[in-house]
Amino acid sequence: MDKKVVIITGASSGIGAAVARRLGRDGMCLTLAARRTGRLESVAEEARKSGGEVLVLPTDVTKQVDIDTMLQATLERWGRVDVLFNNAGVNADKPFVDLEWEQIVTEVNINLLAVMACAHAVLPVMLKQKAGHIINTASIAGLVAVPPGAIYSATKYGVVGFSDALRRELLKTGVHVSAFCPGFTPSEISANLKAHAEGRPDAPKYPGLMPISYVADQVAYLVNHPRRIYVIPKSWRILVLTATLLPGLADLLVPLFGARKDQP
Ligand SMILES: NC(=O)c1ccc[n+]([C@@H]2O[C@H](COP(=O)([O-])OP(=O)(O)OC[C@H]3O[C@@H](n4cnc5c(N)ncnc54)[C@H](OP(=O)(O)O)[C@@H]3O)[C@@H](O)[C@H]2O)c1
Repeated sequence: MDKKVVIITGASSGIGAAVARRLGRDGMCLTLAARRTGRLESVAEEARKSGGEVLVLPTDVTKQVDIDTMLQATLERWGRVDVLFNNAGVNADKPFVDLEWEQIVTEVNINLLAVMACAHAVLPVMLKQKAGHIINTASIAGLVAVPPGAIYSATKYGVVGFSDALRRELLKTGVHVSAFCPGFTPSEISANLKAHAEGRPDAPKYPGLMPISYVADQVAYLVNHPRRIYVIPKSWRILVLTATLLPGLADLLVPLFGARKDQP
């Protein structure tokens, strides 16, 4: 396997941290970016122990100066960037009407504008290399609108649209773009999913909840196999197809697919 240079945003917990551990096992060169430095350091230690080379960079993806530092430090260390796993994200996890305007702005900034900003920073390097892969973490909520979470779905639809348009813009440049659309995964993005991540017996049931190690394995596959849109769990692709072709039927189906408690 190639020893790729991979920048992972949102690497301090959840999916980003699991992907860092997984790619560390493949001996990859990893830049781990997020705000919680202590958490990044412990993920880095595990990834190094299992064979990865790791750079830890405290980063707020809503700050351009932090994004520039993240990129420059990666280039100084390894001289190139093969993959951007553009993954940092939040979910205010409340009905639209209950959100403060500031929460809405923050969610759009982190989930959508920062994804664009990181891609915008890294792309000139990849174009010069004539090679690279930008993997943007969207969600199944970026293909099937799920309440509550109008802003979350809006940002994730935005990530899917941005990824697909950028992918087409970059055809034949050697730079690939994938939209990664996972379903429910134990992580720290909401209280209920965190309860799963901590193995608490009172955690609510989620249909299709995936082990985080499976999600990380799928991202490791995606790193080497770019896809326009990559939906997991694979069984949920039927919901995505139905929501696209028969949106009225999706109104009835969405609640059955577990949109009652928490949105991924
Ligand atoms: N879990 C699911 O069911 C699910 C399903 C579909 C999609 N997703 C998506 O997967 C991605 C990862 O989420 P997760 O579920 O793994 O949740 P998580 O455990 O809460 O991880 C979110 C990560 O984003 C980072 N982050 C948030 N704001 C940031 C900022 N301003 N600057 C830098 N990093 C920031 C957090 O780090 P710091 O707080 O340390 O900065 C953390 O590392 C998100 O895009 C999420 O929307 C999750």
